[in-house]
Amino acid sequence: MRSLTRLYQSLNPLNQNVSLVKIAGVVTKVTPSAIEVSGLSPFLKLGEYVRFDHDHMMSMGEVVRIERNTATIKMFDQTSSVGLGDKAWHEGAFELFPEKSWKGRVINALGHAIDNQGPLLAGEKRQLVDTVPPAAMDRARVTKPLRTGVRVVDLFTPLCAGQRIGIFAGSGVGKSTLLGMLARSRAFDTAVIGLVGERGREVREFLDDVLGDHLTHAVTVVATGDESPLMRRLAPRTATSIAEFFRDQGENVLLILDSVTRFAHAARDVALAAGEMAVARGYPPSVFSDLPKLLERAGPGVEGSGSITGIFSVLVDGDDHNDPIADSIRGTLDGHIVLDRAIADQGRFPAVNILRSISRLSQHVWTPEQQSLVLKLRGLIARYEDTQDLRLMGGYQAGSDSELDQAIALVPKIYHAMEQTPRSQSSVDSFRELAEILHDKG
Ligand SMILES: Nc1ncnc2c1ncn2[C@@H]1O[C@H](COP(=O)(O)OP(=O)(O)OP(=O)(O)O)[C@@H](O)[C@H]1O
Ligand SMILES: [Mg+2]
Repeated sequence: MRSLTRLYQSLNPLNQNVSLVKIAGVVTKVTPSAIEVSGLSPFLKLGEYVRFDHDHMMSMGEVVRIERNTATIKMFDQTSSVGLGDKAWHEGAFELFPEKSWKGRVINALGHAIDNQGPLLAGEKRQLVDTVPPAAMDRARVTKPLRTGVRVVDLFTPLCAGQRIGIFAGSGVGKSTLLGMLARSRAFDTAVIGLVGERGREVREFLDDVLGDHLTHAVTVVATGDESPLMRRLAPRTATSIAEFFRDQGENVLLILDSVTRFAHAARDVALAAGEMAVARGYPPSVFSDLPKLLERAGPGVEGSGSITGIFSVLVDGDDHNDPIADSIRGTLDGHIVLDRAIADQGRFPAVNILRSISRLSQHVWTPEQQSLVLKLRGLIARYEDTQDLRLMGGYQAGSDSELDQAIALVPKIYHAMEQTPRSQSSVDSFRELAEILHDKG
């Protein structure tokens, strides 16, 4: 037995999970949404990978359902021509071997380079795509403030290292642009960006125009909208797993997932193909457990390691903020930034609705003076917004309410001070910059 172990170790010096015996089954049914394999069921676990050999080609699929005699496999490449009688090989859990040199690279959900810069170097440590986050009591506390360089965020919803925050908005209101601006923050050692379900054109725009030179400290994982649901469901898990690798190296990592809603759509497609029933607005129950499982992996690491600050975009269909996916995500996060179409329509970007956005950890960032200043500013903004209709109809006479007069004088300036585009300079000290603008023009 010992000599067998030694033989195994000499064949496998990096102790990677290479099994010496491969088990094969055979394809017994092919449908547009999945493939059925017999002969493998006793050896498979849900979420494991199966390889098909056909026509001198190779395709991969994931186990989504196991029955006594058959297993249902969903394919990564929907165009693959797997046929009846083809062999199906059991590959085991999906794993990656990330390496520091992956920074600056663009990869697909399977961890293969797609940027024409040659193959990726493989690291020494195996990283599973599905992991369990550290236990709550082992995790460091989230108290270290971060400066993102986006003024409206640093002032009104400031973040801490290891925090998880969502950006909620309808389509085309500026989620991806804001995420890109946050990815350029100097507060992080590495950014890992998972782009899910985007159009190919948007990916290029995001990389070239929004990230620009900052691409060198980012690993970008892309699954475009035309890729299979399996690829779109895998990309955020691949990105998270790479973020965990850098966190375990002691780094302060930013993990961006754009968008988590598209991950939920992909998870829904896979669950329906596996035979699950839909419960809430077409979503099967497993989607609601997949979401926290993914999002919980961001956050602080164990005491002494690095942290993963998670920023997740959430598409709120038809600007309906009560959709079940948005609701479920909101409950898992430590804050949310709401973008408003009405604000974007006025050309005010980032279109953050300050009154509806909160960061649950802002008390660790603000000094007591800053906190009371922000409360005062929010109060003025609330007065200004509440009286908008009245003022438009000419129902307010200046001089009759000094607080409202102050709001009318200051709020447009505050809004103006918060405007920022990807091309603007990033903010250094948001409080001082706001004070200067109010003072200059006051
Ligand atoms: N900070 C900004 N400064 C100037 N323009 C902006 C800004 N943010 C967004 N925009 C404008 O809004 C458009 C849509 O932005 P973006 O693609 O970021 O939205 P989105 O919410 O990610 O859209 P989708 O739902 O399609 O993914 C941009 O093409 C740009 O014209
Ligand atoms: Mg977008």
